[in-house]
Amino acid sequence: MRSVYCGSLNATNIDQEVTICGWVDRRRDHGGVIFVDLRDRDGIVQVVFDPDAQENFALADKVRPEYVLQVTGKVRARSEATVNANMATGEIEVYGTALKILNTAETPPFQLDEHTQVGEDVRLKYRYLDLRRTAMQKNLRFRSKVTSAIRNYLDDNGFLDIETPILTRATPEGARDYLVPSRTHENKFFALPQSPQLFKQLLMVSGFDRYYQIAKCFRDEDLRADRQPEFTQIDIETSFLGEEEIMSITEGMVRKLYQDLMGVDLGEFPRMPFSEAMEKYGSDKPDLRIPLEMIEIKDLMKDVEFKVFSGPANDPKCRVTAMKVPKGGEIPRKKIDAYTKFVSIYGAKGLAYIKVNDKDDLENGLQSPIVKFLTPEVVKSILDRVEAENGDLIFFGADSQKVVSEALGALRCKLGEDLNLYTCDWAPLWVVDFPMFEELEDGSLTALHHPFTAPSCTPDELNANPATALSRAYDMVLNGTELGGGSVRIHEQKMQQTVFKILGIEEEEQREKFGFLLDALKYGAPPHGGLAFGLDRLIMLMTGSESIRDVIAFPKTQSAACVMTDAPGAVDKKQLDELHIRLKVKPAPEAK
Ligand code: AMO
Ligand code: AMP
Repeated sequence: MRSVYCGSLNATNIDQEVTICGWVDRRRDHGGVIFVDLRDRDGIVQVVFDPDAQENFALADKVRPEYVLQVTGKVRARSEATVNANMATGEIEVYGTALKILNTAETPPFQLDEHTQVGEDVRLKYRYLDLRRTAMQKNLRFRSKVTSAIRNYLDDNGFLDIETPILTRATPEGARDYLVPSRTHENKFFALPQSPQLFKQLLMVSGFDRYYQIAKCFRDEDLRADRQPEFTQIDIETSFLGEEEIMSITEGMVRKLYQDLMGVDLGEFPRMPFSEAMEKYGSDKPDLRIPLEMIEIKDLMKDVEFKVFSGPANDPKCRVTAMKVPKGGEIPRKKIDAYTKFVSIYGAKGLAYIKVNDKDDLENGLQSPIVKFLTPEVVKSILDRVEAENGDLIFFGADSQKVVSEALGALRCKLGEDLNLYTCDWAPLWVVDFPMFEELEDGSLTALHHPFTAPSCTPDELNANPATALSRAYDMVLNGTELGGGSVRIHEQKMQQTVFKILGIEEEEQREKFGFLLDALKYGAPPHGGLAFGLDRLIMLMTGSESIRDVIAFPKTQSAACVMTDAPGAVDKKQLDELHIRLKVKPAPEAK
């Protein structure tokens, strides 16, 4: 039907006869001449119809936005005055000699140009139209390029692409499972995989040595801009490689993607222990583009009269921290109040600060609601420790470690954005030396990564000090987003059972849930390890998108629904009966 894409035409095609197909982006009637901007996946070209060709002209007069056309015509140069430098095809136009309307279209619910602001719910309801927009076309085409480059890199490095099941058992990654009731096994359910974790480990037991898969994962968790209930991982597993080699291969992949597809040299990724990341940045995924750091002042606050600070300073589970904002003295009081409100979202009870007007005049040179509660010696020690200069602003957090880290960590990112403090475009790093476990509020332990991650110690040492043990896990972080995470795995049954036991999974439950894994570990499991990247997040960062929804063709809304297909939907009684399910709440009348 077509000889060439609209968007690929340029001056080299002048005088050629072409046939193009596409959608009407715009139609303009310029007193006797009709211009149609025709759009396909490559771009837009201007087509001209003049009244000399009566039949075509009459037809062209009828076309409306989003009609689907086939046009045959001759490519010709535009006159100098009408060249459009903003258009890739702006030097030429197609003089239409034949026109066929392949389909008509109703007026779309929103204009498909890039400048029209449309609510996301409308965009998602008519996603097939939203995807016609140039920005969305670009994102998905770029995504396809990235996956193709990933496959090439992994193929070149000896990885095999192997698929793993979607209907499976629970794979614990810390979220709720999506369950699928079984018709053939009454009262039993499949779980959709939160990741292919256990299957990829079993493939190592089988001897495949290097596996990858661009895999769909399903997690029923609270959604955010960088989280979807259904998302895609670049899932990788290897045998006989340690963490250094795994990090080197996967870092090499991301660096090559940036180099080849964006011309960006990310350089060698620095490493940072988890403890340092939490202490300095209050986050295990620090955004290192922002030059602000949290500085511990707990030791200075132990004996002060100000209880807000001395209380946490004397509690081992708390921290007292200062964060200096160079030249932050210009931040107005109103803005500080807004930041105080902002940190309260994270549980902070306040946001003490000192504005340093003159650091040598402790009596009159500081503006602060707290210096009156502190001795001049203590104030001086704080200013010295954070190396304050005149014009700086210092924020303080005093509370549990969790509250201070989260509140000041989030404030750090917000200040970075508000004051545009970024020192570079891209700041990748590896976070390493994670703790094995995290303590929950009830005192029990949960795996920080997942329960198949190897500790850096023996089973006996782990048993003796589970709360302080470190794991052989590593996360790749880019601009404050966790791009990927992985670990060296446990490959010995005894160690796996030790970890399950510490997590409170007793033997019966171990057999019931993970019997197949424990069995596999008995039959010569090789040392192995791997990593999984969030593909959607990677594309989001590479394309500069604000949400992963902008790089997924058909994403779910924030409430985990698809407004286009109206999923999840009701099912009829017959289907429920077959699945042995009776609903507790009767379906609403409109449901079948
Ligand atoms: P993890 O749970 O860290 O590890 O997931 C790996 C990466 O997947 C991405 N990701 C998500 N992306 C979008 N929406 C979500 N809901 C979502 N959840 C996770 C993140 C994350 O870094 N099996 C292990 C990997 C391993 O150990 O090899 C795993 O799934 O970018
Ligand atoms: P208050 O005496 O409670 O009015 O607090 C004095 C100053 O300390 C105010 O600026 C508060 O915002 C701040 N503040 C109160 N609680 C905390 C806290 N836990 N961490 C940091 N600053 C706080």
